[in-house]
Amino acid sequence: MQLTENASTEAETQSGEAKPAAFVPAELTVVLPTYNERANVPLIVEKLDAALAGIAWEAIFVDDNSPDGTAEVAKNIARRDPRIRCIKRVGRRGLSGACVEGMLTSSAPFVAVMDVDLQHDESLLPRMLGLLRADEADLVVASRFVEGGTVGEGLSATRAWGSGVANGLARVLLGVQLSDPMSGFFAIRREKVDEVAPKLSSQGFKIMLNIAVSAKGALRVRELPFVFRERLHGESKLDTLVTMEYLGLLVSKLTRDLVSVRFLMFGIVGASGVVVHLVSLRTGLVGLSFNYAQLLATFIAMTWNFFLNNHLTYRDRRLRGFAVIKGLVSFYLVCSVGVVANVGVADWIYGMDSSWWLAGTAGAAMGAVWNYAASSVLTWRKN
Ligand code: GDD
Ligand code: MN
Repeated sequence: MQLTENASTEAETQSGEAKPAAFVPAELTVVLPTYNERANVPLIVEKLDAALAGIAWEAIFVDDNSPDGTAEVAKNIARRDPRIRCIKRVGRRGLSGACVEGMLTSSAPFVAVMDVDLQHDESLLPRMLGLLRADEADLVVASRFVEGGTVGEGLSATRAWGSGVANGLARVLLGVQLSDPMSGFFAIRREKVDEVAPKLSSQGFKIMLNIAVSAKGALRVRELPFVFRERLHGESKLDTLVTMEYLGLLVSKLTRDLVSVRFLMFGIVGASGVVVHLVSLRTGLVGLSFNYAQLLATFIAMTWNFFLNNHLTYRDRRLRGFAVIKGLVSFYLVCSVGVVANVGVADWIYGMDSSWWLAGTAGAAMGAVWNYAASSVLTWRKN
């Protein structure tokens, strides 16, 4: 086998064909998800180059068509440096999906995932690789919370608190024994990723946790402490939506995937709509008769639900530009039957019991059922 390979290499050299100078297959693929990280791209390549001296590595940027031209910057580097590649994804967004796709393009035995904003300490990579190589672990997680690790200056007080709550929930609800389940900095045996890939969700930020949970405790995990650094260029993309999705993941895992994340999001939005509805109704009752106040409150809550669902529940099918107006109109139209039912039910209960809040809630619940059924089919239909 070895002989044949050598022979063919010589033959090609003799025939004068261009061959890459001394091709060494990568042992480690570093997956680098990016969204608007233009300024950080050259910096991370420099840092990897220094930290991984003596290791056969490659890096794959996975960019979701960042408006700031991150992919072009990465591809310019790739033209000079064969260790660098860039996947430019169009029409898709999401950190988890980008990481999965990057890992799946690797043919190296080991892959690592890290942020490009320099918050993750690249000098940890050789140690992470060392543990995998020595077969002491299948997954090595860089943890901010294990002895010796810290969040340093990298997290605001609110973020640090939220992070603590999220970690606690994951430990209790998912039963994962990780000190930092939300960490986005880890290294793993590639074959393990291939095994769980079909089960991974492409939404949200919790890719490592998703891998650990999907592997059902079959991974040997090691944790290494690191200091989460402050972001220098650009801004964080972790927002309330990402947090909500995370809570959705927890509940859907708790119910063993019986309840979909989307249904849950719809429920959460609906619950917030009920609050909006009741506040509007109470306010409306100051000057209006009950029926008018209830009708007004219904419209306010419906509008609220539409925009929140468009942003949250259907962010992957989000309506934009003119389609928002069309969507809102269709939302009103398909729910107009629901409004009639809503006001009817509320009026009936109000007449029997005369407590405004019970009547309002019953009406709103009636409307919510309609909103859900109608909107998933008509307003945010799959193309
Ligand atoms: N391709 C792609 N698509 N990349 C993305 C996307 C996306 O939609 N959103 C974010 N990224 C990239 C960023 O460009 C960056 O390189 C990395 O993912 C992390 O994004 P940040 O926006 O900097 O995240 P963060 O610092 O708030 O969150 C980090 O810490 C969390 C724990 O507190 C990440 O490491 C998270 O994974 C981690 O859970
Ligand atoms: Mn960051």
